[in-house]
Amino acid sequence: MRKPMIAGNWKMYKTAGQAVFLVQDLAMLVKDVKDVEILVCPPCIALKSVSTVIEVDKLRIKLGAQNVYWEEEGAFTGEISPVMLKDLRVDYVIAGHSERRHIFGETNEMVNKKLRAVLAHGMKSILCVGETLDEREEEKTADIIKEQIFEGLAGVSFEEMKDVVMAYEPVWAIGTGLTATPEQANDVIGDIRGLVGSLYNEEIAMDIRILYGGSVKPGNIAELMAEPEIDGALVGGASLNAESFAKIVKYEKVEE
Ligand code: 13P
Repeated sequence: MRKPMIAGNWKMYKTAGQAVFLVQDLAMLVKDVKDVEILVCPPCIALKSVSTVIEVDKLRIKLGAQNVYWEEEGAFTGEISPVMLKDLRVDYVIAGHSERRHIFGETNEMVNKKLRAVLAHGMKSILCVGETLDEREEEKTADIIKEQIFEGLAGVSFEEMKDVVMAYEPVWAIGTGLTATPEQANDVIGDIRGLVGSLYNEEIAMDIRILYGGSVKPGNIAELMAEPEIDGALVGGASLNAESFAKIVKYEKVEE
């Protein structure tokens, strides 16, 4: 059985101090949740303080970074290495978020280098894929996703795949209030699982967790999670508030 995961991507929101309050508030609200893996991905400037709170308060919340550079150290002004993230007890690193791809020009090759660097340093990674609105309207969704997956996972071993989570985030659904219907998300996630199966094997395809991301809210999480292929959510805006994020984490009990 795949353990559900609810991950909060805080993007460029929250100072270090605010991030500490948010993770503490969240931890209190979700303290009874045991069957869902909960992840928070604060801005890198807040990783240290959030990591300390998680350790000192023994919180059952995992720590994620939103980005990484693939070299261990060097003259790369402004970048952060996998060694530095590992040192802060980061569990997961997001690779290939659409904002990195589209605003900062990250290619599949760069995403692949980041993913492999994360895995090589003993952390786990969430590989994000997803099509833009134009690509969907031109019926290119399947091709785009296939390319993102094949190039993104190039050189990742069978063994390393146990440390990979994937996220399907249609770009047109991010921060727009538009959500893919649960059926749309389930279909593409099923295709992603099939592609992983063709690259690796059936067992890896069945074991890998694939999240949905894009305008996930307390009001739509239950129907998304009811779909057989969807193993969790990567949440942006609604993860910035402890109450709404906690409701998403407790999706089974949310009624609207
Ligand atoms: P929203 O939940 O704000 O649409 O963001 C989704 C996302 O990009 C998570 O990584």
